[in-house]
Amino acid sequence: MNFDLTDEQRMIRDTARDFAAREIAPKASEIDKGSRWPAEIVKRLAELGFLGMAIPEEYGGGGLDTLSYAIAMEEISAACASSGVIMSVNNSLFCDPVYKFGTDAQKKEILTPVASGQKLGCFGLTEPMSGSDAQTMVTVAEKDGDSWVINGAKNWITNGPHADFILLFAVTEKAANGKVKHTAFVIPEGTPGFTKNARDHKLGIHGAHSCTVFFENCRVPASAVVGNVGEGFKVAMATLDGGRIGIASQALGIAKAALTSATAYAKERKSFGVPIAQHQAIQFMLADMATELDAARLLTWRAASLKDKGARHTMESAQAKLYASEASTRIAHKCLQIHGGYGYSTEFPAERHYRDARITEIYEGTSEIQRIVIAANLLKA
Ligand code: CAA
Repeated sequence: MNFDLTDEQRMIRDTARDFAAREIAPKASEIDKGSRWPAEIVKRLAELGFLGMAIPEEYGGGGLDTLSYAIAMEEISAACASSGVIMSVNNSLFCDPVYKFGTDAQKKEILTPVASGQKLGCFGLTEPMSGSDAQTMVTVAEKDGDSWVINGAKNWITNGPHADFILLFAVTEKAANGKVKHTAFVIPEGTPGFTKNARDHKLGIHGAHSCTVFFENCRVPASAVVGNVGEGFKVAMATLDGGRIGIASQALGIAKAALTSATAYAKERKSFGVPIAQHQAIQFMLADMATELDAARLLTWRAASLKDKGARHTMESAQAKLYASEASTRIAHKCLQIHGGYGYSTEFPAERHYRDARITEIYEGTSEIQRIVIAANLLKA
């Protein structure tokens, strides 16, 4: 696989890097400490075309490839992991499936404003009692004449408090043998019976607000169905194949920021009469961090380029997400260690990277779920 970036990919990287350094990084600590939704950054991401990067231009997107998206996600997340996941959810978990499975009308009326960033999307799969085992969801949609009536709740909905649309998954058929079928729906904010609670309080990614959403006799038209009735679980799984590339890229960004700040600190801080970077104990940590970061990036870019080729990338996305998220946590851990006591202080970004990295091992499928997916693909041949 050739990962020489094209001129366009280099331009995307430089644009994202420059924007992140000038407009996001100076605010990242304040966003984190105040748990502030970065509305002005979301607006700028929209202006740069970063909220629907791989969606064709006719539907408001950037018409770019997945590798460009992964590269931009890494740069934005290196500055602020909260901004990274806001971007990732809109791109991977809303725009991608609506483009892939939506009707022409959904693409014109819903995808176009979301991909261009005038509106924001979110993804409703997880429920209070159904996370890793996603098929056990209990939210139901019952057919009533020409419409569907939805009842249930979804939680940890990233972007939920600010989103204009949710891509929702509900049970639409239960066979006598207990087998269930699911269907995906796209539902606008403000639909009667669709409500949200206050935002969640989390260990990290404080600027990326999430919440629980509720559906109580929420009536939606048949035109809200995305894809085929009864095939919603496949829509969710195929969406997560792409989403995991986004989260792997977010993990890369956090890890890159941790390595950069650890390297700079190690050159400045002195102990035993020399900068600590001259101690082999520190050098070995930096060497491991750099090596794991490069390995994670190669896995992530491989998954992205397979997606760009239209090839099945379920296993490769899971491998990228598994390795990049766990490497990111290890790298952020070492970054904090290199900073010593200052790493434990909120005056330095090391503790934010440490908290932010941790979620990448959990959302869009825990590390345990990625291992299940990888093993299932390995053993099925
Ligand atoms: N693409 C297309 N179809 C797929 C697929 C894929 N990648 N994976 C599975 N399917 C299909 C299967 O072919 C199967 O189809 P048939 O019924 O026709 O045979 C069907 O889906 C069911 O597949 P499985 O039997 O493999 O399903 P399972 O119940 O064993 O579950 C699982 C598989 C991988 C564990 C899945 O439940 C899973 O991914 N769980 C984790 C959920 C998750 O990642 N949630 C994240 C929420 S979003 C989020 O986190 C966003 C955020 O905050 C930022």
